[in-house]
Amino acid sequence: MLNTITTEAALENFLAFWQAHFPEQQTLTREAALAWFDEQRRGFSNTRASDQEMTAYQDDVSRVYGAYENAAFQMATVERIIRLAKRLPAKATIVSLGCGPASYELWLATQTDYRFTLVDHSAGMLDRARGIAQELGVTNQITMIQSDASSVPAVPSHCADLVFCLNSMHWSRNWQQWIVEAARIVKRRSCVLVTCTFFMPRSMITPEDLGEIMSRYFKNEGAGPLVPPVDVGNGMAAVSGRFLCIGRRNDKPPKRKKR
Ligand SMILES: C[S@@+](CC[C@H](N)C(=O)[O-])C[C@H]1O[C@@H](n2cnc3c(N)ncnc32)[C@H](O)[C@@H]1O
Repeated sequence: MLNTITTEAALENFLAFWQAHFPEQQTLTREAALAWFDEQRRGFSNTRASDQEMTAYQDDVSRVYGAYENAAFQMATVERIIRLAKRLPAKATIVSLGCGPASYELWLATQTDYRFTLVDHSAGMLDRARGIAQELGVTNQITMIQSDASSVPAVPSHCADLVFCLNSMHWSRNWQQWIVEAARIVKRRSCVLVTCTFFMPRSMITPEDLGEIMSRYFKNEGAGPLVPPVDVGNGMAAVSGRFLCIGRRNDKPPKRKKR
């Protein structure tokens, strides 16, 4: 169980889980996966897609998710999750907005007695998560809600000990509402863990806009690139576009914007 093992052992355990349950990463390159679901036309830069087209695209991505997602990002994210999850009480509730196939959450379910509410608009992503949950025998810890994550009235206010918005809200034009929804769902003094990509054409999240909305509801408990910059020589560094921030819910009501 999570509290009895070191973070290093937990990371090794997650890596084995990620490779076992998303085996397409061993048989398919990322380029082949992107070509298969026609990323160029349907994905990242597709600003015009309707919500229906976007969910159909995400349904296809779900089938090859292991080849699509970068293992280094998975490992960096789960390290943060482990540190936050170790501090939670028994039977804690975690709500994940834009959960995808729920690799982090399902692995965590095998390591804890926590309860998880998984929210995603893609039936394909939730089906993939359901299949893995069944294989693992953790379905009693999981509730799934197929919904747009910007408004999930089925999730009660202030019910969660931790809320995830991981690598998802940059797909949504309405991304600010995800933060508002996370602030509604999380318990007072509890945390939200957010990762996202800035300037993605569909959402155009900027560091300033993210900082502004986060600070309305959360005290900053850490923010920066998900993985450290890599030295590429000649005094240059390659910086990943994936950003992470952790916020702790303020007790104060949100500030009103000046007109
Ligand atoms: C790249 S995946 C990330 C999945 C998971 N959180 C992770 O980090 O592995 C993005 C997910 O966001 C979901 N998503 C995108 N827009 C959404 C929306 N408006 N409402 C709910 N889910 C959404 C997609 O269906 C997809 O499962």
